[in-house]
Amino acid sequence: MKNIVILISGRGSNMEALIGARDRGDLPVNIAAVISNRPDAKGLETAAAAGIATRCLDHKAYAGRDAFDAALAACIDEFAPDLVVLAGFMRILTPDFVRHYEGRLLNIHPSLLPSFPGLHTHQRALDEGVRIHGCTVHFVTAELDHGPVVIQAAVPVLDGDDEASLAARVLRQEHQVYPQAVRWFAEGRLSLADGRVRVAGETAAVTALVAPGLR
Ligand code: GRF
Repeated sequence: MKNIVILISGRGSNMEALIGARDRGDLPVNIAAVISNRPDAKGLETAAAAGIATRCLDHKAYAGRDAFDAALAACIDEFAPDLVVLAGFMRILTPDFVRHYEGRLLNIHPSLLPSFPGLHTHQRALDEGVRIHGCTVHFVTAELDHGPVVIQAAVPVLDGDDEASLAARVLRQEHQVYPQAVRWFAEGRLSLADGRVRVAGETAAVTALVAPGLR
C-alpha cells in the first residue's frame, strides 16, 4: 500500500475528505503523517484525533524559504512517502523542494486552472463575471498553481452568489476530486508524458467532473 504525507496550513477539510475516503475503504493508502507550517492549524487536531502522526514546522522559526523547505523535506522524508499531498498548504515552494518530489507532489487549487492562480480565487471569479468556476488537482511544478492537470470539477456561478456561497459549492467538489486523484495515484494509474496526465484504463472524460446545476 502506498504511503502518503499530507501538508496543511489550516482547516484541513480536504485532508478530512482523504481520511474519510480511507476509512470507508475507498482510498487504499497509508496516511503516514500530517504536517502543518502553522501550529494553530485546526486540521492538526483532526488528524491527531484520527490517530495519524502529526508534525508542525513553524515557518517563522526559519531564516528563509530555503532553510524552511529543507527542514520540511527532511521531516516529510522520515515518513518515506510515495506521494506528498498539498491540502491547503499556504506556502510558495522552492524549486529545489519541487524537484525533490517531482511526479509525487499533488496540489488542489480552488479554480479551473490556468484561470485564477494565487489567492482569493472565488472573489476574482465573481469580479470577472465568469459563469463557470471550479477546482483543479494538479502535479506541482516550480511555477505557482501550475502543472499537469489530473482532474477538474466545474460548478456554475449562480445569480446572487457571494464569495462564501461560491467557495462552499467549489469545496464540495474539492472533496470529491481530491480522493479520486489520490486513489488513481495509489492504484498506479497516473502517468505523465509531455506535461499531460493519463489515467490508465480511462478516457479523459473521467477527469472532468461536472457539478449538478451545470447543463
Ligand atoms: C481549499 O480551497 C484548497 O483548494 C486551497 O485551500 C483551501 C484549503 O481548505 N488550496 P481546507 O484546509 O482543505 O479546508
